[in-house]
Amino acid sequence: MSSSTYPSLRMRRGRSSGWMREMLAEHRLHPSDLIWPLFVCEGESCEEPIVSLPGVSRWTVDRLAAKAREAATLGIPCIALFPNTPGDRRTEDASEALNPDNLICRAIRAIKDAVPEIGVLTDVALDPYTSHGHDGLVDARGCVANDETVKVLTEQALVQASAGADIVAPSDMMDGRVGAIREALEGEGYCDVAIMAYAAKYASAFYGPFRDAVGSLGRLKGDKRGYQMNPANGEEALREVELDLAEGADMVMVKPGLPYLDVIWRVRERFEVPTFAFQVSGECAMIEHSAAAGWGERDALILETLLAFKRAGATGVLTYHAPDAARLING
Ligand code: PBG
Repeated sequence: MSSSTYPSLRMRRGRSSGWMREMLAEHRLHPSDLIWPLFVCEGESCEEPIVSLPGVSRWTVDRLAAKAREAATLGIPCIALFPNTPGDRRTEDASEALNPDNLICRAIRAIKDAVPEIGVLTDVALDPYTSHGHDGLVDARGCVANDETVKVLTEQALVQASAGADIVAPSDMMDGRVGAIREALEGEGYCDVAIMAYAAKYASAFYGPFRDAVGSLGRLKGDKRGYQMNPANGEEALREVELDLAEGADMVMVKPGLPYLDVIWRVRERFEVPTFAFQVSGECAMIEHSAAAGWGERDALILETLLAFKRAGATGVLTYHAPDAARLING
């Protein structure tokens, strides 16, 4: 360490011009840092704007390939799919999750046909398929039953893999699901299908617009604190990550994003594995509302928040702003 101090050392020299700032930048955003979450709905040739998530829509399967093409052209390597299952197909047992012709499976096939070079990540959890909006099966006491749920999640992951999913991402927070899914994938010959575990997923107030988008908002009875993590805890996130890695997760995720940058940092430092952040719906909506109110510049807010994830050590970020960010990065 140099003992130099002011006035021989002036930190502002490093900020004195555009080229100098560019040359000394420690982190940089690239479109390949981004995963774009997309919502899918039934119907034909339709776009349904999501009121609670300004700028984001649900797309019918026939319109989805164009979105995947847009992502690939922008240099976004992977998209994440979330279905809005019609109400009459939501049941206590979430059986629609296992239908090989459900919305998600049709969406995967359409994208794989049209844009084979893009990665497709699918969510493994039952909330878009249950009548009660929980991520798992609810027992007689009203609790989400872990082991029964893991059996269904394992089948769900296989159904998605057989439709062509490249990465399955369990977001349900059941214990033991990563190991069960990995074993089933290996057993059925899907050894190239990767698992991105939502390893540290918090019971957060930032998921509101997402639940609106997948149609589970009005249905949810109670809350998810019996399976998602307590926002008070950091050490517990490290245990969750350790377990998911031991069970065979290829990469892990921390969710939500900005309020949990400390967790991303600790996970990356401790485990040195691919670590993703999910900048969730409520976070993106905050940026949109702030910009709409004239309190912040939208483009700058988008890029600054995404750069924060990189500084915290994230390998990449799932964000609804992915195409806007990629356009800004590409100039
Ligand atoms: C549910 C799931 C949620 C999100 C992704 N998968 C919401 C929840 O746990 O209730 C949230 C994503 C977002 O808010 O953008 N399995």
